[in-house]
Amino acid sequence: MADLKDKIVLVTGAAGAIGAAVTAAVKRAGGVAMATDLAGRAGIDAALDVTAEADWQRVTAEVERQHGRLDGLVNAAGIVALGSIEQLDFATWRRVLGVNLDGAFLGCKYSFPLLRKKGGSIVNLSSVSGLVGGHNLAAYNASKGGLSLLTKSVALTGARRKPPVRCNAVCPAFLEGPMVEQIAQATRYPDAVHQRLVMDIPLGRLGKPAEVADFCVYLLSDAAAFITGADLPIDGGLTAR
Ligand SMILES: NC(=O)c1ccc[n+]([C@@H]2O[C@H](COP(=O)([O-])OP(=O)(O)OC[C@H]3O[C@@H](n4cnc5c(N)ncnc54)[C@H](O)[C@@H]3O)[C@@H](O)[C@H]2O)c1
Repeated sequence: MADLKDKIVLVTGAAGAIGAAVTAAVKRAGGVAMATDLAGRAGIDAALDVTAEADWQRVTAEVERQHGRLDGLVNAAGIVALGSIEQLDFATWRRVLGVNLDGAFLGCKYSFPLLRKKGGSIVNLSSVSGLVGGHNLAAYNASKGGLSLLTKSVALTGARRKPPVRCNAVCPAFLEGPMVEQIAQATRYPDAVHQRLVMDIPLGRLGKPAEVADFCVYLLSDAAAFITGADLPIDGGLTAR
């Protein structure tokens, strides 16, 4: 396990499968996690709707007041909606882009001044769907593909700072948890879809949120000091073929 001793890390979507696992892993590694999610979610330190600029201003001001700086940001809030270009309506497109891409943009933007103070690391939760397309994932593909290039732009800005702010995108394949269940349940044959998702993964199983969380902790830590601007698959071999 990488060392995050005394590092202050803000996590969005922290009531979700990955966000909750990241929050726990940050604490296990000796860091201080500030867990945020939509109001009313369990296990949350502060309500933060990632699409609301005023929420980011309020929460980052609170981090500055409490700690004077930020060492890490994990943008884990995200939503998925099934739909091809023929099926998808504009409102759904905007909702998915709003959370997955606008949310990460606002997170990077408002956290950057605090991360600059002593150098830091941003981890954006992208997806294998940011690397390869799916016929019925038009909005999700676009949001995660955009997130990968936003990651590279932020990384190049952060590399000019001394000490640097690093920024990477983690690209998981399907994981155990509610997001995959939601995808399967939205279809006519949930069990067959579930089986198909597993069959697509060469290692023959879904990933675990804890595996992704440990990877995020590594990227947040000084052990990853030379890694920035990267799309990093954690996908059981899915994108190897
Ligand atoms: N689970 C997977 O199979 C998988 C695979 C690849 C990538 N991802 C990505 O990882 C991230 C986390 O996924 P997860 O599996 O934990 O999903 P999840 O559905 O378990 O959790 C997502 C969390 O985001 C929160 N959220 C939604 N809209 C929000 C908003 N506007 N502001 C703040 N929080 C909001 C939800 O309340 C929820 O707690 C997402 O970006 C997702 O696209 C997930």
